[in-house]
Amino acid sequence: MIGRLNHVAIAVGNLAAATSTYRNALGASVSAPQALPEHGVTVVFIELPNTKIELLEPLGEASPIAKFLEKNPDGGMHHVCYEVDDIIAARDKLKAGGARVIGDGTPKIGAHGKPVLFLHPKDFNGTLVELEQV
Ligand code: CO
Repeated sequence: MIGRLNHVAIAVGNLAAATSTYRNALGASVSAPQALPEHGVTVVFIELPNTKIELLEPLGEASPIAKFLEKNPDGGMHHVCYEVDDIIAARDKLKAGGARVIGDGTPKIGAHGKPVLFLHPKDFNGTLVELEQV
């Protein structure tokens, strides 16, 4: 069911500093910051030859990554995003198998303008999983 790895997301406390690390120490090309109020984050994307890295900084007081950064003050890997052809079919199959979808189960529009859903880390080996319909 899952296809390509779309991106790995890393939560950071300071997006400008993290951008500079990727640009200067790692020689990566980093996109301009994009605020996603509906998701409570500001993101940049780093294009690698085979996938992307998403750096996430909290936006607003109810940011879903604020707690993660409290526990991981240096930042850390937050989620992996897999591509699917049909997000509704994927959701229904996962739910039928007992997996928990975060929120009300309705896909939201993600950073690439495409529908996304998140799956509970307790059902996926301690890793938050994002599904993106491509
Ligand atoms: Co993501």
